[in-house]
Amino acid sequence: MSPTPLPAESLGFEFADAALESRVRAGLERVEQALLDATQSEAPFVTAAAQHVMVAGGKRFRPLLVLLGAEFGAGAGAEIGADEVVKAAVVVELTHVATLHHDDVMDEAALRRGSSTANARWDNSVAILSGDWLFARASDLVADLGPEAVRIQARTFGRLVEGQIRETMGVGEGQDPLKHYLSVVADKTGSLIATSVLFGARYAGASEEVQESLRAFGEEIGVAFQLADDLLDIASESDQSGKTPGTDLREGVPTLPVLIFRAQADPTDPTDARLLDLLDSDLSDDARLSETLDLLRSHPSFQQAEDDVRRRAADARKLLTTLPEGPGRQALDTLCDLVATRSV
Ligand code: IPE
Ligand code: IPE
Ligand code: MG
Ligand code: MG
Repeated sequence: MSPTPLPAESLGFEFADAALESRVRAGLERVEQALLDATQSEAPFVTAAAQHVMVAGGKRFRPLLVLLGAEFGAGAGAEIGADEVVKAAVVVELTHVATLHHDDVMDEAALRRGSSTANARWDNSVAILSGDWLFARASDLVADLGPEAVRIQARTFGRLVEGQIRETMGVGEGQDPLKHYLSVVADKTGSLIATSVLFGARYAGASEEVQESLRAFGEEIGVAFQLADDLLDIASESDQSGKTPGTDLREGVPTLPVLIFRAQADPTDPTDARLLDLLDSDLSDDARLSETLDLLRSHPSFQQAEDDVRRRAADARKLLTTLPEGPGRQALDTLCDLVATRSV
């Protein structure tokens, strides 16, 4: 019988090392069970609202990174199954799902993980409050890991929320739009992905130096991960990502290809002029949104953005060279490629 697919296999992820694979599979199974256990409320409706998006799917990218971070611990992989490591993985996924509840309200999204969002299934109030409840559960669990874990978690969540707020506010007067965008991405996504690998290493007993190298790697790969996600929002022609394409444009959130395009657009070129007009218009209109997506996909700016994401993933990979060699490092190396070229 073939093993149950790992959620991260939707990224195309394959293990080169069989022993690491079985450690990670066993760890992720424990994470799944612990996620269910952590989200049981005495009120059946609270359980249903909190678990709706959580169980709909998802790549479990952050729990995977926690487990791979744990490979750099003192016991050469033995710690993946340590209770503290599994708990840390549950904490980051619960935090992530909580932010998805809130993000889907902000982005007025109806589809997440191939299923309805909490706001579409119920309403904004339920989505916000169940997101808060998930965050409360994450906070409760992280307390078991000690005060420093609570501090790291609080600062990570603070950065993430600040990123979301700064995205909502948009670029300020005189600010470079690309710099603003990249700093938003680092805060809203790089922060939690960095903490994921850091937590894994930390609760597996890795040295401070290794923890810091992994944190820095996580931040870089996290930025590349979000940039690739933003490309997919434009490139995917269907709901293959489990989300509705074009959401960023519809919500007026300019992402990398749009920013590159705007910086180089030639208003005397008919295609550029049309695209500029469309980008300045109300893209809640389906026909206009669809035309904008078509023009952007085939514009050279899109290819430049893809090249940029690949470069960033390659830069992240370079940060791995300071880490001890082994199956954990090899797996993170593989993930760098997949993040840049992912289609889900
Ligand atoms: C979605 O994260 C939000 C981003 C930061 C891009 P994921 O792409 O990890 O979403 P799931 O967990 O697989 O649903
Ligand atoms: C979500 O950003 C990042 C979070 C911190 C939740 P997006 O709004 O770009 O992500 P998706 O495309 O909805 O997953
Ligand atoms: Mg969104
Ligand atoms: Mg958003």
